[in-house]
Amino acid sequence: MQRIPEPELMDEPAQARAYAEADFSEPNQLFADAVVEALGDHRAGTMIDLGCGPGDICLRLARALPRWRLTALDAGPNMLALAREALDRASLSDRIELRQARLPRGRPEQTFDAVISNSLLHHLPDPMTLWQSIAALAGPGAYVQVMDLQRPDSVERARRIVDQHAADAPAILREDFYNSLLAAWTADEAGEQINAAGLAGLRVSRPSERHWMASGFVGRD
Ligand SMILES: C[S@@+](CC[C@H](N)C(=O)[O-])C[C@H]1O[C@@H](n2cnc3c(N)ncnc32)[C@H](O)[C@@H]1O
Repeated sequence: MQRIPEPELMDEPAQARAYAEADFSEPNQLFADAVVEALGDHRAGTMIDLGCGPGDICLRLARALPRWRLTALDAGPNMLALAREALDRASLSDRIELRQARLPRGRPEQTFDAVISNSLLHHLPDPMTLWQSIAALAGPGAYVQVMDLQRPDSVERARRIVDQHAADAPAILREDFYNSLLAAWTADEAGEQINAAGLAGLRVSRPSERHWMASGFVGRD
């Protein structure tokens, strides 16, 4: 199925609120567990989450990796306001710095020991924006983990996935989910983008039927 891009930002107040209130605990915990397994909880470091949205993954990681400092970056002011609320509720504001910025950006002022991103790639008009940003932000030997939806073969299949995983969700969220499935890249396409970006060290896997994940350490000798 041909991909159908969707709007880059999802920052309408109602849309951002519906997204923040949705239950993404299953994929978000899967994502966080994979990061924790790769890094172990013994190392301290710096991590940036690109397109952090309302910050749920950062919160999970801040709790699981108490010696890491996190930066949560997003272009949407409404999303970031919701992330701020969640951080304050969890008393984790001192461990997670929120940064409003829209990728692509120029040369970064710092690099990170880990660069992560979930469900941002399919929003970007040019997917290389994400991979090139990662290449610029990852320090030597940094851990990188990117997860996104896998585009299904047909619109009928996309509808079935929405029914299966978001049957009781509000209409606005179901529509966003459906549009995201149509806009998503496949694991093979992501692999081609990674090669084009020269991000040797990343491997693409399929942690669930509806997701792919690229992960690994980049720039290690
Ligand atoms: C589907 S949400 C994913 C949020 C979060 N990562 C998660 O897993 O729940 C995509 C996020 O990417 C942000 N975004 C879209 N384009 C962006 C860009 N060019 N730079 C930074 N953030 C962007 C949107 O504002 C939105 O919050």
